Amino acid sequence: MAQFTLPKNSKVQKGNHFPAENQGENMKNFKLYRWSPDDEDNPRYDDFEINLDECGPMVLDAIIHVKDKVDSTLTFRRSCREGICGSCAMNIDGRNTLACLKPINEVKGDVKITPLPHLPVVKDLVPDLSVPYAQLASIQPWMKTETEAPTRERLQSPEDAEKLNGSDGKGPAGCILCFCCSTSCPSYWWNGDKFLGPAILLNAWRWIIDSRDEATGERLDELEDPFKLYRCHTIMNCTNSCPKDLNPAKAIAEVKKLMVQKQG
Ligand code: SF4
Ligand code: SF4
Ligand code: FES
Repeated sequence: MAQFTLPKNSKVQKGNHFPAENQGENMKNFKLYRWSPDDEDNPRYDDFEINLDECGPMVLDAIIHVKDKVDSTLTFRRSCREGICGSCAMNIDGRNTLACLKPINEVKGDVKITPLPHLPVVKDLVPDLSVPYAQLASIQPWMKTETEAPTRERLQSPEDAEKLNGSDGKGPAGCILCFCCSTSCPSYWWNGDKFLGPAILLNAWRWIIDSRDEATGERLDELEDPFKLYRCHTIMNCTNSCPKDLNPAKAIAEVKKLMVQKQG
């Protein structure tokens, strides 16, 4: 029989409250999702009150502040703090984005933070990216060639390079694999095991249109499948959520166009 209620152990409960050590004029409350595989407890939201005069301006600064000064068990990913590595992707104030690029002062009221949605949670704010990474490997994201390698390098015209980089730097080569797009896509929520999702399809397109790659036909053949590509219904959540302003929905539409041309 279908189950219409959440299993008991998945309900997010009210957690602990951590008042700021030093009160001031500029206080903000952060509600952080917590869950650990090491105990039987339900997930919870812990409240951390932060004096913003004691931390940097971005949401990532606040999370690092919590880990350094309040609760060292808080678990999250981050590396570059410059919007380049993609590892600090999470859901902040209801939107998937990069914590290092999200100014705290853009959020009105409490700052609610959860892991990227619809992925299993490893711990706290860390989602399990095994499936998206396996899907990335499946599109073989490297240059495939059959012709003999030139003595120096495979050249590309500035026009062909621009197809990858975009005239405004927002071409598909700018993808940092943060998965904000895929985890905001309803089709990926429901069919994430079979539909490749916008992040992977944008990367597939990046290799399909690379003038140096010699496996275009093979790459398109691989995507000819009722689920891998065609589960995109152009809902556009993906493009709206990309923190690098890329356009995965357009990339998917371009792949579909190439499919039609190939069949014609
Ligand atoms: S446009 Fe396609 S990939 Fe993007 S959110 Fe919609 S269904 Fe998902
Ligand atoms: S397309 Fe944008 S949102 Fe999607 S993985 Fe790449 S950088 Fe992240
Ligand atoms: S820490 Fe690298 S993108 Fe945010």
